This record gives sequence, C-alpha cells and structure tokens, in this order.
Amino acid sequence: MPLNHVHQSLALRTQFEQLQKEIEAKGMAVKACVVDFVQPTKDQWQGLVDAVNEGHVSVLGNSSVVNNIGVCHAAPGFFDEEDRALCDDMVRANVVSTMTATRIVVPQMQAQGNGLILNMGSFAALRSLPFMSVYAGTKGFVKTFSQSLAYELEPDGITVSYIYGQWGIGSMLGSKGRSLFNPAPSTFVRSALDRIGLKCGAHDSHTSIPYYPHSIVNFVSSCLWDPMHAKLAHYGFGQHVYALGAEKRTHAAAE
Ligand SMILES: NC(=O)c1ccc[n+]([C@@H]2O[C@H](COP(=O)([O-])OP(=O)(O)OC[C@H]3O[C@@H](n4cnc5c(N)ncnc54)[C@H](OP(=O)(O)O)[C@@H]3O)[C@@H](O)[C@H]2O)c1
Repeated sequence: MPLNHVHQSLALRTQFEQLQKEIEAKGMAVKACVVDFVQPTKDQWQGLVDAVNEGHVSVLGNSSVVNNIGVCHAAPGFFDEEDRALCDDMVRANVVSTMTATRIVVPQMQAQGNGLILNMGSFAALRSLPFMSVYAGTKGFVKTFSQSLAYELEPDGITVSYIYGQWGIGSMLGSKGRSLFNPAPSTFVRSALDRIGLKCGAHDSHTSIPYYPHSIVNFVSSCLWDPMHAKLAHYGFGQHVYALGAEKRTHAAAE
C-alpha cells in the first residue's frame, strides 16, 4: 500500500497488532480503534470519533477511509432457512455500522475540503446473487449509498467509490487457492489503490472493478439475460462456494 502519511486510524475488530507493527515499521504513527461493527458500543464509536478529532483518518493521503467491512452468509442457502441472527448481524455490520462510521468521518473531510472514501463492495450487488440474498441486499445498499453520497459530497472535494470484489479475493466463504480470477488479497488491494477513480469496466457511476480479470467477468455477466445470470450464479458459482463453505465449517467444528 502506498502509505506515506504520518497518521492513520484503524477501525478494526480484531488482529490489528500485526498490521499496526507493519505500518509502524514503515515509520508511521498508528492509532488503532477497535469497533465491533456487529455489536458496537457507545465507547467504541466514541473512540473513533476521538481518533477522527485528533486527525487520525489518513490512510491513503489527505483524509481517507477504506471501509472493508463484510459480514456474509456461512454458505449459500434459502432465505427462509437462513439463521435469522446472522441475517440481522449482516444488516447491522454492512449497513447500519457502515452508515454510522461514514457519518463520523465526513464532517472532518468537509472541513478540510478533501477526502476519499473507498467502500468495499461485491459482485453480489452487480445484478443479483440467489441464495445469498441478504448479503447481496446489504452490498446493494452500500453501492447505492456510495453512489448517492458521491454526488452529494463531490462539491466538498470528497471522492466516494464503491469497489466491486468478486468471490475469492479474501478469506470470506472459505476462499482458498489462487488463480487469475482468485487473486491474493495483496494483488487485489494493489489494483484497487492503483486505479482509484477509474471505472475499469464498471457500468454504474462511482463504482470500480479494479482487478482486470474481474472486469472481463463483469462484461460476460452483463451480456447474459438476468435469469440466466442468476441460474449460473447459483448452479456454478453458488454450488462451488457452498462446498468450500461446508468444508470451512467442518474444519472449524473439528478444531
Ligand atoms: N472474499 C470474497 O470472496 C469477497 C468477494 C466480494 C467482496 N468481498 C468483500 O471484501 C471485503 C473483505 O472481505 P474478505 O474476503 O477479506 O473477508 P474477511 O476476511 O471476512 O474480512 C471481512 C472484513 O470485515 C471485518 N469484520 C468482520 N466482522 C466484523 C465486526 N463484527 N466488526 C468489525 N469488523 C468486522 C473483518 O475484520 P477482522 O479482520 O477484524 O475480522 C475484515 O476486515 C468485504 O467487504 C467483503 O464483503 C469479499
């Protein structure tokens, strides 16, 4: 990551120590705030407010925020069979807490007259993702929220972009193994940071598909009739992901 600023704030739930060490090794100061996006406490939000007020929101340059939150289904399934608590958690984390965090950082960006907000999204919000309906819905919220805010905040010098990720870029859903379409997280992040402000084949305003093999997938997907896309998503991608998800759960249960 081209991290070249003195301060940055991290709003992470867990495992920030390692990242903190890596950033400090590059000679930068770090302020770590722990916020549980599923069940945040008032104190946790206040910690983020304090960090912002101290000027610790710089991640990429000037004032910038990368919102990476994503709580997802353990595996594809029918909506009415889903764990209701998990569905509520997804909405709380991906929608409500995303909105709250944005509300905290925007005023400082407006005061400074600049800012960058990158919201991590998903192909699930591209068209539809049957059997992962709640996750797709939450990422759909983030997409139109980002696009709408982008127009609102443009006059204040603030850029907002929704980054489309495709299955396999991270650890979600038991992703494992790397391929052209399933890059290492660092490869994906580099693409995203190198192409800020570029659409890279995305159709909608203020959205980007920064990793080029995924741009090809988007092109092919956009040529398909929607019900066909949905069926392919379920029977091809969905089944594969389901198998990996099942493997991941079995592994976790055995530990
Ligand atoms: N992997 C994929 O296949 C895929 C595909 C498309 C889009 N995406 C999107 O890419 C982003 C990163 O996903 P990933 O694959 O890297 O999955 P991940 O490893 O599960 O990461 C999800 C992110 O959300 C954070 N998070 C989860 N629960 C949280 C909570 N209760 N409070 C605060 N933070 C919480 C995690 O922080 P901790 O590290 O502290 O847990 C992590 O930063 C997500 O927005 C996801 O929707 C992923």
